Amino acid sequence: MEPLITIRPLEILDLDQIVSIEQEAHQYPWKKSIHLSCIEREYPSLVLELDKQIIAYVVFNYLYDECHLMNITTRVSYQGLGYASQLIQVLYDKSKIAGMQSVLLEVRESNTPALSCYDKEGFERIGRRPDYYPKKEGREAGIVMRRVL
Ligand SMILES: CC(C)(COP(=O)(O)OP(=O)(O)OC[C@H]1O[C@@H](n2cnc3c(N)ncnc32)[C@H](O)[C@@H]1OP(=O)(O)O)[C@@H](O)C(=O)NCCC(=O)NCCS
Repeated sequence: MEPLITIRPLEILDLDQIVSIEQEAHQYPWKKSIHLSCIEREYPSLVLELDKQIIAYVVFNYLYDECHLMNITTRVSYQGLGYASQLIQVLYDKSKIAGMQSVLLEVRESNTPALSCYDKEGFERIGRRPDYYPKKEGREAGIVMRRVL
């Protein structure tokens, strides 16, 4: 039988699962307190579940007519299977319904999988912020990307 895919808003009860996926997938993970504050501030978010297990999530925020994509993560063992793409398509639909004109994000210049993913989903590179992100030694640039809706 085909696995059942569900996409729904992230809830407080998902917090521990999200934090564990985050720590496994990111070189520089968000702390639990950042996830918690996004939930408390009611930032829009989505989780993708496969047979009730969270596989991927995205956290974003609406500011004027721009949606800011703040974090998108896929569980390591499920990467490369199209789950981030599915979440981004739903994010586009929700953002349009909310009256947004574009989606903006920043990404580490060294994050090749994420850059490729955003390229594939129609984002354009509109800026580069030198020394934007701290890293283990020194800092690295952030690439600013925008997708017009
Ligand atoms: C970036 C990330 C969310 C992509 O998630 P994913 O579910 O693996 O992405 P998808 O399977 O939907 O792939 C979409 C496209 O991304 C690109 N991509 C994904 N993984 C890639 C990799 N390892 N190398 C190069 N390109 C990659 C491809 O273009 C792919 O399209 P294709 O399969 O048709 O070639 C995932 O790699 C991840 O969680 N990384 C760690 C967290 C992170 O860096 N998040 C982004 C910054 S907040």
